[in-house]
Amino acid sequence: MTQCCINPSILSADFVNLEAELQRISTADAVHVDVMDNHFVPNLTIGLPVVQRIQAVSPIPLDAHLMIADADRWAPGFADAGLASVTFHAEASLAPVKLARELRSRGSKAGMALRPATPVEPYLDMLTELDMLLIMTVEPGFGGQAFLDLTLPKIRRARAAIDGSGAGVAIQVDGGITEETIVRAAEAGATVFVAGSAVYGADDPAAAIERLRGQGSRPLRGASTE
Ligand code: DX5
Ligand code: ZN
Repeated sequence: MTQCCINPSILSADFVNLEAELQRISTADAVHVDVMDNHFVPNLTIGLPVVQRIQAVSPIPLDAHLMIADADRWAPGFADAGLASVTFHAEASLAPVKLARELRSRGSKAGMALRPATPVEPYLDMLTELDMLLIMTVEPGFGGQAFLDLTLPKIRRARAAIDGSGAGVAIQVDGGITEETIVRAAEAGATVFVAGSAVYGADDPAAAIERLRGQGSRPLRGASTE
């Protein structure tokens, strides 16, 4: 079995009780922190000072998803804060190779995200620069949206390219992940799953994480990577 990773998104958590909300998902693999700037996406969340406080009290590693314009300028500061993983959007970076290298040199894993309509093909030559490829399965900006099945062929193409290249890149999916849609995303080749409403909307988030983990873990196929 490929054991998948479940990264709950605190976008669906109670923002006034973040420390307690983090404890409720302490059995997850990482906490997904959505940073939005009201420019790259039409919504505003939290900035680096709050992310640093989350980092200080979180029982599990942070997986930051930066939905911000001018990622080249702002993303390195999140790596400097000691986050385990920092993901920028390809559409928001003028120099994604340089930025990915900068994140790694500052000690974070480097992730790059693609909006639903952004093809993966222009980025295949830089896979070795990345630790994670995030394929958005909704338009970024809001939790609680429906999973876009039109992203499944892109997940499959990315999986085939990664397996073919031997690059150790994890494929993360984010948006509309439920106990039902996670199966389709896993079959297409994703191994890291972000879930906001499916975890924090559940009465028992820890039980929801376990159910998602069971549904998202697939029989081992070829050179599948974590
Ligand atoms: C959306 C965010 C997601 C969001 C997922 O732009 O990037 O991380 O919180 O929420 P659900 O799982 O409810 O779609
Ligand atoms: Zn996200």
